[in-house]
Amino acid sequence: MEYVLSPSILSADFAVLGNEIQKTESEGAKYLHFDVMDGVFVPSISFGMPVLKSVRKVTGQVLDVHLMITEPIRYVEEFVKSGADIITIHYEACKDVRATLAKIRELGVKTGISICPETPETVLEEFIGEVDMFLVMTVHPGFGGQKLIPETLDKVRRLRNMLEEKGTETDIQVDGGVHLGNVREILDAGANVLVAGSAVFKGDAAANTREFMESLRSYE
Ligand code: DX5
Ligand code: ZN
Repeated sequence: MEYVLSPSILSADFAVLGNEIQKTESEGAKYLHFDVMDGVFVPSISFGMPVLKSVRKVTGQVLDVHLMITEPIRYVEEFVKSGADIITIHYEACKDVRATLAKIRELGVKTGISICPETPETVLEEFIGEVDMFLVMTVHPGFGGQKLIPETLDKVRRLRNMLEEKGTETDIQVDGGVHLGNVREILDAGANVLVAGSAVFKGDAAANTREFMESLRSYE
């Protein structure tokens, strides 16, 4: 299984965004996490397509777009045109999850489904084999800098077991409250794609990414 770091630019300094992103790329972060918030599905508003277009120009990282928006089906085409490589939608935000995933797939990019802390992992069972990634939120979506909710790692553990029982190695991403001190516990639970916002971009993004990468490599 490949262990991947996906730095979330939500916590970056947008005045120097390009430079900050490139630091994470040159230190080995394969993905870049792009949090889109609409002020409806989550209480806050972040950024959207124009920013993604600019980000696409400055990095070759896999652009991992996390849509925290109501009825994301309305916007997936524009996000793909703007440079997304993976689009993750929220189970709770779609009237028709399957149609939303089908549309993303038709556009030729990878698909992900995310669940909030209060949503049981069992809702994902029917999508096993159909999606490229499951995102188990480890905080309530909407803001960076929160503390990881420990019970969410039990969901990761149960989801990894479900995947193993079905003989598939689908990626499990975790997002929220990830820092160097809990990486091992998170990987032990069965996640393999780690989103980290404040733990990467607060302070020295190059040094922070390097430490995350060392910790992921030493786990392999
Ligand atoms: C939260 C976002 C996260 C956020 C994580 O709603 O989905 O991606 O950037 O931030 P940290 O790593 O600071 O908890
Ligand atoms: Zn996110």
